[in-house]
Amino acid sequence: MKVAVTQPIYEQSLQRLRDSGLDVVELWRTDPGRVQTLTDVHGVVCQLTDRIDATFFEDKPELQVVANVAVGYDNIDVTAATAAGAVVTNTPGVLTDATADLALALLLATARRVPEGDDLIRRGDFEGWELLQHPMGVDVTGQTLGIVGMGRVGQAVARRAHHGFGMTVLYADAQAVPEMEQALGARRVELPELLASSDFVSLHAPLTEDTRHLIDRDTLASMKPTAILVNTARGPLIDEAALAQALADGVILGAGLDVFEAEPTVHPGLVQLHERVVLTPHVGSATESTRRRMSDMAVDNVIAVLQGRPALNPVGS
Ligand code: DGY
Repeated sequence: MKVAVTQPIYEQSLQRLRDSGLDVVELWRTDPGRVQTLTDVHGVVCQLTDRIDATFFEDKPELQVVANVAVGYDNIDVTAATAAGAVVTNTPGVLTDATADLALALLLATARRVPEGDDLIRRGDFEGWELLQHPMGVDVTGQTLGIVGMGRVGQAVARRAHHGFGMTVLYADAQAVPEMEQALGARRVELPELLASSDFVSLHAPLTEDTRHLIDRDTLASMKPTAILVNTARGPLIDEAALAQALADGVILGAGLDVFEAEPTVHPGLVQLHERVVLTPHVGSATESTRRRMSDMAVDNVIAVLQGRPALNPVGS
């Protein structure tokens, strides 16, 4: 059986596929984009930058599994996959800690203006400690953190913020998470209350038609002028043009962003803002061990399905 791998993954994972007797087509070496025209594949290992839409499934009667090397799967039309008889899988759990760590890193770096201090030293402008020093930050410890989407990553961020920084945790989610309420005293509130009451807002919701532009001009205006927004989930949760304007106008204080609306493009209005705006290039899960585990997890799903076993991490179940 044939498995198309759209983009580079770890060699150890490619070897797992080969050791399972599968014929591996390393598409990125031969013909990037060819996945659309492959008709005789039984499995596909793809990444979040691959758009796997309804037309993709039209001429692949043998296709049984599409394994995304990511926990988010908004790049795949799952309804079309199901109709075509293919299971879609993702990589939950293995990237939770790495992504939560980065959310906290962005929160802290933005609040304490770490990149600005680093730049200042490299420019040769550090003239020694002063009471009225630049760059002056804002407090993190004891502040209120609003988590939008209390799934695995949201919970991991909440634990770090509460146990590490004594933060009060609010959350907005369709589902109550009693464990977080008991363990951290987290309080579930509606989104408007969360936005109006939080000093920091961290986004952890999946991208769906309901969550696209959840943060727009109006919701930004409802936040505290001292608030800092963090996004390690998906860029389109935020209307990036509206955020750039809100930051420039002082509607909110700052933003720490790892994901963007039209990656790899970043809105120029954000790139131009250096004060209290920290940007990282979608590296939430980018630690060596995490990316290796994601890579293996995706191929293990393909192997399971093509050996006639249930998928290990099917989405939507
Ligand atoms: C994911 O897994 O969805 C992240 O965005 C990339 O690790």
